[in-house]
Amino acid sequence: MKISKAKKSDIEAIISVDHVAAHDESRRRHICEWVSGDSTIVAVVDDAVVGYAVLEYTFFSQGFISMLIVAEASRRKGVGTALVSHLEEICKTEKLFTSTNESNEPMQALMQSMSYEPSGVVHNLDDGDPELFYFKKLKGNR
Ligand SMILES: CC(C)(COP(=O)(O)OP(=O)(O)OC[C@H]1O[C@@H](n2cnc3c(N)ncnc32)[C@H](O)[C@@H]1OP(=O)(O)O)[C@@H](O)C(=O)NCCC(=O)NCCS
Repeated sequence: MKISKAKKSDIEAIISVDHVAAHDESRRRHICEWVSGDSTIVAVVDDAVVGYAVLEYTFFSQGFISMLIVAEASRRKGVGTALVSHLEEICKTEKLFTSTNESNEPMQALMQSMSYEPSGVVHNLDDGDPELFYFKKLKGNR
């Protein structure tokens, strides 16, 4: 598996692993913006994009993983872990945050497996499905 910064030529492949992008024009527009803004990384196996992740600094100027998706057929093979680990290496702030819905058990399990700490709950974003925030203190010189 190779993790690298996404290029414009990866956009179609990113859209094809993102089940929301297939029917959501605004997600496709966001993907184009994230890639143009150098915020996106892709995981590639056998020349095929199998997952992508987005790191931004718009959350109180802290590193924030705003998107992480692995193609369904490639889940439980370490791709999500590899993407998050790479973001931890390139993150410019000493704290890295992310969030997910309370209903999203796979993401919560991934966060736990990577030693992320709970960092609060925000209600009223998705009705009846609170947003759980996570954070990790990163080591190294930043
Ligand atoms: C959440 C997601 C990114 C995880 O990616 P992944 O590549 O399957 O994760 P990994 O293979 O690196 O999993 C690492 C560990 O996390 C935990 N984990 C991940 N998915 C899990 C699941 N469905 N059930 C239980 N534990 C899970 C396990 O501890 C796993 O280790 P193991 O496979 O050795 O038991 C993936 O399920 C996904 O793309 N989901 C849809 C999009 C999404 O919800 N994104 C996150 C919120 S924005």
